[in-house]
Amino acid sequence: MRIGLYQNNPTFGEVEKNVADAVNTISELSADLLVLPELFNTGYQFLSRNEAASLAEEIPGGFTCRAMMKLAKEKKMHIVFGVAERKGDFVYNSAAVVGPSGFVGLYRKTHLFDEEKLLFDPGDTGFRVWNIGGATIGVMICFDWFFPESARILSLLGADIICHPANLVLPYCQYAMPVRCLENRVFSITANRTGTEKRGGKKLLTYTGNSLIVDPTGQVLKALNGTGVGTIVLEVDPKKAKDKRVTTRNDLFEDRRPSLYGPLMQ
Ligand code: ACM
Repeated sequence: MRIGLYQNNPTFGEVEKNVADAVNTISELSADLLVLPELFNTGYQFLSRNEAASLAEEIPGGFTCRAMMKLAKEKKMHIVFGVAERKGDFVYNSAAVVGPSGFVGLYRKTHLFDEEKLLFDPGDTGFRVWNIGGATIGVMICFDWFFPESARILSLLGADIICHPANLVLPYCQYAMPVRCLENRVFSITANRTGTEKRGGKKLLTYTGNSLIVDPTGQVLKALNGTGVGTIVLEVDPKKAKDKRVTTRNDLFEDRRPSLYGPLMQ
């Protein structure tokens, strides 16, 4: 299976341009599964909830999702992308999954980061997985990585590949994803953005790029630089994620002791 990512540096608010840039780049690629960054079409640093709402779109009816569905059909690939979602009076930091047959599913970010708490409603979907033929994928968005429960739940639900749209501003995630993959024996695709934003007197945000794909042994298969735009596509065998054994006596999932994990549920 050919999996990959697109790392971008969107221009804030220029949705049509940002989507066109993504479409032009992805049109040149051959892949079965491609992951795009969080909020790839709008940029990240909204000044207010109203601004976020005005740039948010319905899923799957909005401009961006329709463009991605058309692309997924033409390219016969699955695409996971981050987008601000408007649903009635609610605004979510969401990711959509689309494929050759159209809309597949939606995830709304569970763990909102910093000022996102002023802009978005906390996600209400919980963690979800989808079988896309050849692999089961799950989605988490950016700061969700900081909570090991996110990757664990997706893996327990059967995800072989964790698709991870991101707009990372802290320096830790790229070091942590190999551990997330190792402890769950899954692949991950972290699609991050680059560049900076400093809007409306707010603090400068520097996005760290270094988008990466990690395998179930925690090995970084490929990573991009911390600046610029770029893509990765590589071949993997998702079945490797089915084997949770560490030794002949240890299976990472069968050895779990949930009856002793009560504090996790508090
Ligand atoms: C983040 O969750 N965008 C840092």
